[in-house]
Amino acid sequence: MSAAQEIARCPLDDLRGGEGVRVPSEVGPIAVFLVDGEILAVQDTCTHEDASLAEGFLEDHVIECPLHGGQFDLRSGAAVCLPAQHPLRRFGVRSDGEFVYVTT
Ligand code: FES
Repeated sequence: MSAAQEIARCPLDDLRGGEGVRVPSEVGPIAVFLVDGEILAVQDTCTHEDASLAEGFLEDHVIECPLHGGQFDLRSGAAVCLPAQHPLRRFGVRSDGEFVYVTT
């Protein structure tokens, strides 16, 4: 089995303000969040239409899409509020205390 491949990175300090961070990657933009000390990464583009979830509204581990208010649980990727119906792709993360590395 091959190791998870690193596809994006961002400085850990960028997450500390509580806002989502949009990071480009070879599989499309990824939104990275720091929630209660846990780093969570999902696809940035909403599964409903074309909106950046990094610009959404974060409450606990739920991100609300800025365009139509659909909501997703960042821990599972599940859509939890209409009009969002399809789950987000989730990504692995690790950090060395300076950078966050997003992996497949
Ligand atoms: S684009 Fe996200 S809920 Fe419509």
